[in-house]
Amino acid sequence: MRRSIECQRWGQTTAGQEILRFTMVNRHGLMARVSSLGAALTELWVPDRRGGLQDIVLGFDDCAGYLVNRPYFGVTVGRVANRIARGQFDLGGTTYMLECNDGRNALHGGSHGFHSVVWQAEPCRDDHGVGVRMFYHSADGEGGYPGNLSVSVTYRLMDSNELKIEYSACSDRQTPVNLTNHSYFNLSGQDDILAHQLVLASDCYLSVDVENIPTGAMNPVDGTALDFRQWGVIGAGLRGLTNDPVGYDHTFVLRPECRDGAVAAEVFDPESGRLLRVVTTEPGVQLYTANFLDGSSVGKQGRAYRQYAGLCLETQHYPDAVHHSHFPSIILEPGVTRYSTTRFCFAVASGEGLVW
Ligand code: GLA
Repeated sequence: MRRSIECQRWGQTTAGQEILRFTMVNRHGLMARVSSLGAALTELWVPDRRGGLQDIVLGFDDCAGYLVNRPYFGVTVGRVANRIARGQFDLGGTTYMLECNDGRNALHGGSHGFHSVVWQAEPCRDDHGVGVRMFYHSADGEGGYPGNLSVSVTYRLMDSNELKIEYSACSDRQTPVNLTNHSYFNLSGQDDILAHQLVLASDCYLSVDVENIPTGAMNPVDGTALDFRQWGVIGAGLRGLTNDPVGYDHTFVLRPECRDGAVAAEVFDPESGRLLRVVTTEPGVQLYTANFLDGSSVGKQGRAYRQYAGLCLETQHYPDAVHHSHFPSIILEPGVTRYSTTRFCFAVASGEGLVW
């Protein structure tokens, strides 16, 4: 099969800005679609053990859905993913005030964050796959953050059956940056991910308060429902949690070797045989099991997504890092380009083991 990359006009924003959608197909027939609105992954078609292709990410059928995408389906999140306590931080002697869009705290770059803007986008290709490179210029003061920030996100669908996401960011002033992708995976195509199995290269997680703000402590996963050092079933693990709403919404501290290419996470669906392997340069991963979905987000083919309809593995620096000096810093120095990469690799488990 030949690789291909196509671009179409998908719609427009309420302000009349054109939204593009790109369709990428690799040599094995895997297909990914991305939208310039929110630099979002909107579809990802991956085979099961019998070769049957299915779209394994939650989202909407049309562009209109992404204009009011409350659950952040598939989008690029920034400038700063996850929470900043009380929506403020100090940097270089100045206190910066952000929009508090999650109770008393700032979440995912505010309501006009990177998920909600139209990115410039162009196709790219190399000897190993096809891709789309997206750019966004965030002006000084946008969302309350300092510095003119140039960001790029490149999605590459490789012939090795991986979707590689490469980020870069550069600012003219010191500023915090923490980018992630917010795709909800469901490898089964069924209503929930409770039967999915998970393994994480993580020995500890960040302790949080009732508002999901890190306390600064890192707790061992040993003896808790967060222990995925060996394969565990999501549905069984959930029974050991007491948060409200019940579900995984935790930051796992990845082992140092993950930054050098060791596998950070694997998700397996025994029914379809699909396996997702995550490799990242980021120091943490937020496992979120769609706890807040309540059926009010009507998505693809009219499906009302409910709790546990999908799971996110948001590779990122730790939440609220601006307030914890012992967390890896998210402060970008002026003129320095920061790069990060996350790879979502797909395989199927058959009688002969894993087939990539
Ligand atoms: C992240 C957060 C969750 C929630 C979702 C979006 O995963 O950790 O608490 O805010 O994004 O709904």
